Amino acid sequence: MIIEKYISRAAISRKVKELGVRITRDYRDRCPVLIGILNGSFIFISDLVREIRLELEIDFLKLSSYGDSKISSGNVKLLKDLNCDISGRDVIVVEDIIDSGLSVSYIKNIIEKRKPASLEFVTMLYKKGKSKLNFIIKYKGFTIPNKFVVGYGLDYAQKYRNLKDIYILK
Ligand code: IMP
Ligand code: MG
Repeated sequence: MIIEKYISRAAISRKVKELGVRITRDYRDRCPVLIGILNGSFIFISDLVREIRLELEIDFLKLSSYGDSKISSGNVKLLKDLNCDISGRDVIVVEDIIDSGLSVSYIKNIIEKRKPASLEFVTMLYKKGKSKLNFIIKYKGFTIPNKFVVGYGLDYAQKYRNLKDIYILK
């Protein structure tokens, strides 16, 4: 595998701080529940929550993965549900990357049934022109071209999640 550095840890850190400032400002005097989507968002959410100056709660959802493929199977399944009750809560879903948009659409469906007070999405990476979403992703880190990336929580066949920078896999 040839990997090429694409986004540096310094740029990631600046972006996470910026997102944290925006969320802190937008949710002032509220106590949002941040929901990390496992496994990919575990590093991003851990950095992001430390840049948010609010009382908040954290929970996780786990969806089925791509397997070892780079292309989405189109099938999304819930592997681990939330532990907390989100009805009446301000929910912020934290994703590593939005590619086809299937995962976030599925998550939006599940969450809306539980009647949160509000629901927004934050994603570290957003693949430009790929997803056909009929709703807005309020907080986007980097918009990237249609390339397969790894590092900073993102994997290929479960590897490379521990890289500090984001790389393009060729
Ligand atoms: P979507 O449902 O097609 O939007 O895909 C979302 C999920 O697929 C993400 O949460 C990632 O886990 C995975 N994924 C999509 N693109 C990439 C990539 O370029 N590298 C690593 N994982 C990816
Ligand atoms: Mg993932």
